[in-house]
Amino acid sequence: MNKELRKAVIAGNWKMNKTRPEAKALIEELIPRAAETSCEVVICVPFTNLETAVSLTEGTNIKVGAENVHFEKSGAFTGEISADMLTELGVEYVIIGHSERRQYFGETDETVNKRTKAALAAGLKPIVCVGELLDEREAGITEEVISTQVKLGFAGISAEDMKKTIIAYEPVWAIGTGKTATSAQAEEVCLFIRETLAKLYDKATADAVTIQYGGSMNPKNAAELLAQPDVDGGLIGGASLKAADFGVLLDEASK
Ligand code: 13P
Repeated sequence: MNKELRKAVIAGNWKMNKTRPEAKALIEELIPRAAETSCEVVICVPFTNLETAVSLTEGTNIKVGAENVHFEKSGAFTGEISADMLTELGVEYVIIGHSERRQYFGETDETVNKRTKAALAAGLKPIVCVGELLDEREAGITEEVISTQVKLGFAGISAEDMKKTIIAYEPVWAIGTGKTATSAQAEEVCLFIRETLAKLYDKATADAVTIQYGGSMNPKNAAELLAQPDVDGGLIGGASLKAADFGVLLDEASK
């Protein structure tokens, strides 16, 4: 990461894991561990754990995020949660457009765009996920895929709002597979995203945006990934569920 321009952000994505007592135990272990580090620390937890996470982390350096948000303010949308419902709880971040939501729940670039706008309007910091499938990488169209996701995902979003938004580059083939992108592959795409933002906005905006890498980031590969100039942190699945592993990633991002 380029520390002169950006602060590293390490965000855990717990996905559909942890009951409330399990969440409480993990957060209690994380609090003293996170206190020793200087990067931005975020835990994105299931809706049912948000209240617990917000109250336990009050006065600590851990911020809380949700894993999704609906784009409408209220209404007949059974099972959905609005941005105002999240901010009212004290939630600060929200993951949008994770590849699991795109794959299993019909999320599209258009709904990602609507959710991102709703999150920003409510004062939430969106963590917007982009990434190519294995087939797309093998067909040599990674840049086209990412460029489309970025252009449609951020259509109509002002430069000022863009600067408040985090982009997580998560190659779908590296998620939960143990297959990490090499640090060169991660840097190549994160840099490409920044160049795309510079064309859509301007260089100052592109330089201000935090771009994370996600996909099997773990204590062994984090240092090399985070040493890349355009990799400003990580969105962490499996390794965020163990305080010891997550702690190592926080240390690496704080160096
Ligand atoms: P893993 O770290 O388990 O590969 O998951 C990455 C991810 O999807 C984070 O959003």
